[in-house]
Amino acid sequence: MGGAPGPAPSGAPAAPAPPQAGARQIAAAAADLASLKAAFEAFDGCPLKETATNFVFADGAPGAKLMFIGEAPGAEEDRRGIPFVGPAGRLLDRMLAAIGLERGEVYITNILPWRPPGNRNPTDSEIAVCLPFIERHIALVGPAAVVAVGGTAAKVLLNSREGIMRLRGRWFGYAVPGSGAPIPLRAILHPAYLLRQPGQKRDAWTDLIAIKKRLAEGKTAS
Ligand code: URA
Repeated sequence: MGGAPGPAPSGAPAAPAPPQAGARQIAAAAADLASLKAAFEAFDGCPLKETATNFVFADGAPGAKLMFIGEAPGAEEDRRGIPFVGPAGRLLDRMLAAIGLERGEVYITNILPWRPPGNRNPTDSEIAVCLPFIERHIALVGPAAVVAVGGTAAKVLLNSREGIMRLRGRWFGYAVPGSGAPIPLRAILHPAYLLRQPGQKRDAWTDLIAIKKRLAEGKTAS
């Protein structure tokens, strides 16, 4: 009784690998976006898959310089299988237009491709199991800059416990696991939050202008 468990007796079946270990191998094996999409859609390690209607991978231009990453699909995204097409997505389109961009000129995805039931917050374990896929997704898109849309995406990508109000307003370097130089990353307020708190639009505007300026300067190192 008690004490650390000893090694498994020889011949005993090995303990199954945690789903995240499997996810990392699967994601790493994807050589392009089409393979990543197919492999992620077939992945059974995230329980959200069981309750979602659709797998929501990405929208926009795969060769885009800007990659927007939100949290997870909402009801309309789940119905249509496209990220950011509900009320928050329509505001995101207007935010893009404010800096002279259209949805088709950027790349848009989420940390999670399946809607959490009732739009609840995703759990840490749901995020952890899907993390290797968004990391590989960023590496395959290879954007000049990443925009974390909202607090969840910012915290996950920056591996931070700080809230969005502390993470927005400055540039970070996102070190793509297994890839080259860090990619500049900026966090912005989530459009769903701005719909509830329109008084905060000024902060979002400041960040969008900074993003536009950085792209125009062609400064892609962090
Ligand atoms: N909110 C997100 O974070 N992503 C979507 O796709 C829609 C709403």
